Amino acid sequence: MLWVKSFHIVFVVSWFAGLFYLPRIFVNLAMVPPQSIAERERLILMSRKLLRFTTLLAVPALALGLWLYLGYGIGRGPGSSWMHAKLAVVVLAIGYHHACGRLLAKFMANHNTRNHVWLRWFNEVPVLLLVVIVILVVVKPF
Ligand code: HEM
Repeated sequence: MLWVKSFHIVFVVSWFAGLFYLPRIFVNLAMVPPQSIAERERLILMSRKLLRFTTLLAVPALALGLWLYLGYGIGRGPGSSWMHAKLAVVVLAIGYHHACGRLLAKFMANHNTRNHVWLRWFNEVPVLLLVVIVILVVVKPF
């Protein structure tokens, strides 16, 4: 079980590294002057590769978590409200990942309407999600 949990944590950390960095590229993309086509294309290529890699990391992160939950039964039964709350916040993290994909599609179609200030606030969301998830799973407050 400890090997599964170890790799769960490794992939979770890697997944969130992608969720931290991808919106940062979007902030830069939103500030690229319209005439700088080469720079825009370079940032879009970086975003596409990073989104693909981040998605590849999310799959084992979630699968190993489900293995701990369903396979070993950790977080099931009485006194497991922390796990239900954790899963609810994990669904938000998956939704955030999806929103990054939608934003990239808009940038690729040159239809982005979000300015760099909005994107900077958007970039803070995964920090909040990570703090809440880690407190729920380590402290198990309820
Ligand atoms: C489908 C989603 C997930 C499921 C079912 C899941 C399930 C679990 C379970 C059952 C444990 C073992 C808890 C224990 O031994 O006390 C665990 C550990 C952990 N999970 Fe997840 N997890 C998921 C996603 C995540 C995500 C997205 C994060 C972070 C962003 C995360 C962070 C952690 C951490 C840090 C631990 C180690 C806690 C400890 O050893 O005290 N998990 N997870």
